[in-house]
Amino acid sequence: MSNTKIAVIGLGYVGLPLARLFATKYSVIGFDINNNRIKELQSGKDTTLEVSDDLLKEVLKQTPDNSSGLFCTDETDHIKDCNVYVITVPTPVDKNNRPNLTPLYKSSETVGNVLKKGDIVIYESTVYPGATEEECIPVLEKVSGLTFNEDFFVGYSPERINPGDKEHTVEKILKVTSGSTPEIGKKVNDLYASVITAGTHLAPTIKVAEAAKVIENSQRDINIAFVNELAKIFNLMDIDTHAVLEAAGTKWNFLPFKPGLVGGHCIGVDPYYLAQKAQEIGYHPEIILAGRRVNDGMGQYVASEVIKMMLKNNIKVNGAKVLMLGITFKENCPDVRNTKIIDVVKHLKEFGLDISIYDPWADPSEVKHEYGLVTTSKQPEERFDTIVLGVAHNEFLNANFDDLLNPGGLIYDVKGILGEKVIQVQGGL
Ligand SMILES: NC(=O)c1ccc[n+]([C@@H]2O[C@H](COP(=O)([O-])OP(=O)(O)OC[C@H]3O[C@@H](n4cnc5c(N)ncnc54)[C@H](O)[C@@H]3O)[C@@H](O)[C@H]2O)c1
Repeated sequence: MSNTKIAVIGLGYVGLPLARLFATKYSVIGFDINNNRIKELQSGKDTTLEVSDDLLKEVLKQTPDNSSGLFCTDETDHIKDCNVYVITVPTPVDKNNRPNLTPLYKSSETVGNVLKKGDIVIYESTVYPGATEEECIPVLEKVSGLTFNEDFFVGYSPERINPGDKEHTVEKILKVTSGSTPEIGKKVNDLYASVITAGTHLAPTIKVAEAAKVIENSQRDINIAFVNELAKIFNLMDIDTHAVLEAAGTKWNFLPFKPGLVGGHCIGVDPYYLAQKAQEIGYHPEIILAGRRVNDGMGQYVASEVIKMMLKNNIKVNGAKVLMLGITFKENCPDVRNTKIIDVVKHLKEFGLDISIYDPWADPSEVKHEYGLVTTSKQPEERFDTIVLGVAHNEFLNANFDDLLNPGGLIYDVKGILGEKVIQVQGGL
């Protein structure tokens, strides 16, 4: 497209890296409703740590002109003259695990208000198949007064980034694209192909692209649920699950999944989107929801295993000083949303443990705000009766646990990362 001017709506873990990448070639307006986020980005800082200060500063510009670069704003006036709108807002679930499409409706309204003839709106947020056409496009039509596929067009291109992963960055991950007509599909595909070095895959329809994304994460969730179930069985039999997986993994087609807590707002959330749609159309998904049940119960299971280990080793449970290592939903990433460590902490507290939480990646004020818990980002100087290694941050791999444990103290290594290096390890998934 000539004179392409792109607005990226929602500058979070997905939107910012994409806006930065497009800005190396195009004029990009990054729009977010969170004024604090805009201020930090304008100052050249990304607290999600997905885009380095250097890369961000390389593209940042102070005016919304038509030259290539990224201008960040929370004013809708600045996105008025864009012709491509890419929507990267959150798609969470509510407390009953039902899809909450409010950010998608709101951002579609924002775009509907500035939509013009010939514009293309591309959704990137993870949804169930049909959500773009059934939920988003009607909002665009209603607010803009324009007609879909006559006046304006739509695409869907799911994001596959993996927060904290500095190897598989947005441009290095093959991108699935789609459009509301074959011609628009090709235009959307060409746009992404112009910046994604790993290439693109043009799916035949928007629904196919939506379904592809939601099953990628559902497949992962189900596979992890299976190994979590295996860990529960083998723990009862006193068999080391990691040793079993290592042995089985020598077969060429054995899939290398590890047991663990499934948190965050993708793998633990997206299967509910698919399940909800399936139920709406009259099919009760057995495997998808079983996977969710197993994985959602792992926090409580870990807590009960920790207590069992303490009792077996004659550690007085009530009032015991316990250190939780890690609070983020995954390793080497500051994201604390939907972290399942919270479930472990909550269940451990029911046994009267005195829990401290140390995480060098998490922002203590964010944890306090989200969960009402006190955390520290500096290694504690006191010693503990038990350590639960919950998140495999690099900092914990080579920690000196003798400085942290009371004599006779024990470590529960949820992720099984310490191996035989640390003799105090007595349990783990
Ligand atoms: N984080 C991931 O690893 C990842 C990977 C692939 C796909 N996804 C999907 O991408 C989407 C975005 O996820 P994320 O992790 O970037 O979320 P995020 O919460 O990090 O960022 C979303 C941003 O959108 C902003 N926002 C919310 N409502 C808005 C509105 N109406 N208008 C403008 N801005 C608005 C928020 O302020 C926030 O800055 C979700 O659908 C998610 O499932 C996420």
